[in-house]
Amino acid sequence: MSAPRKLFVTTALPYANGKFHIGHMMEYIQADIWVRNQRMNGAEVNFVCADDAHGAAITIAADKAGVTPQAFVAEIAAGRKPYLDGYYISFDNWHSTDAPENHQLAQDIYRDLRANGLISTKSVEQFYDPEKGMFLADRFIKGECPNCHSKDQYGDNCEVCGAVYAPTELINPYSALSGAKPELRSSDHFFFKLSDPRCEAYLKEWTAAPGHVQSEVQNKIREWLYKDDEGKGGLGDWDISRDAPYFGIEIPDAPGKYFYVWLDAPVGYLASLKNLLDKRCIELGGDGISYTEYMADPDLEQVHFIGKDIITFHTLFWPAMLHFSGRKRPTRCTCTATSR
Ligand code: MF3
Ligand code: ZN
Repeated sequence: MSAPRKLFVTTALPYANGKFHIGHMMEYIQADIWVRNQRMNGAEVNFVCADDAHGAAITIAADKAGVTPQAFVAEIAAGRKPYLDGYYISFDNWHSTDAPENHQLAQDIYRDLRANGLISTKSVEQFYDPEKGMFLADRFIKGECPNCHSKDQYGDNCEVCGAVYAPTELINPYSALSGAKPELRSSDHFFFKLSDPRCEAYLKEWTAAPGHVQSEVQNKIREWLYKDDEGKGGLGDWDISRDAPYFGIEIPDAPGKYFYVWLDAPVGYLASLKNLLDKRCIELGGDGISYTEYMADPDLEQVHFIGKDIITFHTLFWPAMLHFSGRKRPTRCTCTATSR
């Protein structure tokens, strides 16, 4: 008999700003069916998930509830179990992107990318809410659509006419948080240099390799990855920093700067796995396997179940983050049949 398959399987980490909805459960059930099938066939599976705890949306939800972001996400986390048990989802672990393992791993990955010459800084001009004392994400700026002049439209697109624009193009912009008139201010941001020829070449290879992504997904990725006949398009550098105040992970050697939530979110897969293996090592003493040893196994397959709305993060940014920080890359990203 051949050796059992070794699988590290994840589902997308739900934002900790709200309870589960049916879209979350749909994805977990689909992944769970596959995991159970693998287990019945003798595979050794570690199937993990976690709360996606950071970012502006969560800070604002906590603000509204009058609690700290930490207290807010703790309460959401405490309500997860009845749903997971009630639907018989066989996760081996549930963790949080705000856990110490994730802070450590995200900072380590960043340091390795920096050492590899793939981090740059650039000054970025953005709207700032002088009353709240913070930079505003696009969806926290509202104003009149520059195209159809509908009032109270979001900073990135108009829900009435469908126009897409920059927040700076809105007429009479205002902060959705305080109502104040936002000011343009500039600040230094950190970028992951995805436009580096090494990243481009690597991602073209990774995404085209058989089995890594579904063929429909491959077609979509080609639109992002390849330049058009006039040499336009292709991957741009990815803005991975946000200024304080931000609920997130501090960027090493950059006081007042935090990782954008999407930088540390997928690292949460690894943090949840590490937390699980560390707990097992304590339980089993010398018989447990360490995270480092587990990840070093070339036969280990790393499989991410995701929704179609988060393909860019999982098939471009994430494999590049892992590969260029010298880590194991995903074996497969599978889009489930639902948009979450
Ligand atoms: N929280 C994100 C969403 O619901 C998904 C994060 S998946 C991650 O869209 F792994 F990258 F964290
Ligand atoms: Zn409009």
